[in-house]
Amino acid sequence: MKNFTTTNQLQQYLAQLRAGGAAIGLVPTMGALHEGHLSLIQQAQQRGETVVCSIFVNPKQFNDPKDLELYPRPILDDIKKLEQVNCDILFNPAVGELYAGNESWHLNIGELEGMLEGKFRPGHYQGVTQVVHKLFNLIKPDTAYFGQKDYQQFLVISRMVAQMNLPVKLVMCPIQREPDGLAMSSRNIHLTPDDRQHALILSKTLNWVKKNFNPNNIPQLKHDAEKAISNEPGVELAYFEIANGDTLHPADNNTQKIVALVAAKVGKTRLIDNVLIS
Ligand code: PAF
Repeated sequence: MKNFTTTNQLQQYLAQLRAGGAAIGLVPTMGALHEGHLSLIQQAQQRGETVVCSIFVNPKQFNDPKDLELYPRPILDDIKKLEQVNCDILFNPAVGELYAGNESWHLNIGELEGMLEGKFRPGHYQGVTQVVHKLFNLIKPDTAYFGQKDYQQFLVISRMVAQMNLPVKLVMCPIQREPDGLAMSSRNIHLTPDDRQHALILSKTLNWVKKNFNPNNIPQLKHDAEKAISNEPGVELAYFEIANGDTLHPADNNTQKIVALVAAKVGKTRLIDNVLIS
């Protein structure tokens, strides 16, 4: 695997690959890689693309400095995992390589920025779209792969790509789960054994809502889901929403594409999860 920390060297190498006819697949990550990330790399490989995995803990998308400080950064483990799945290229820049000091600019991505996750983490999606825009601009991937676990992130990035006519195809890959249903996340390593058990209420409740879904009963389902999660010890619910899968507005009995989304603090760790209902 080629390992680059500077954009110049990465771009020179990518230019050679492109000249030889390679298509480039980008898997943007913040490291602490798990099966979910590796499945994105495998998707790109199945499409015959040369895979660039970026590892960059993006300071601009953390609204809580403590969260940024505690974010796991096991780079040597990550490199091993990338080599095991035959990733072609790692791009692991320092902050100064992507941000030119006192940058101040804003991407207008509309109301999605302030809904659900955006309401609880002001500035988060501005940070996400800015860094993803930079990565798209520097790497110019043919395709970029994101996990469904950050469903709203995928919508926000899709909106940015559509609004700015960026020449990249986006692919959303299914959530990878532990055998007991917990959605894989880099943050799971912060869960204590007790938290780990309590966290299961999130996927259990999402599955219960999917199984019992009835378009005429959405407010009751939402209410029951909120109650089940709030009653779980050690779990502090942020939101549970049954939403339109394109707009994230609350779904009603005419909504065609429906997603249930949840965010909660389990012990000290904030987790998100979701399930596509229709
Ligand atoms: O999903 C993530 O890990 C991050 O939000 C992303 C897309 C790599 C941007 O920093």
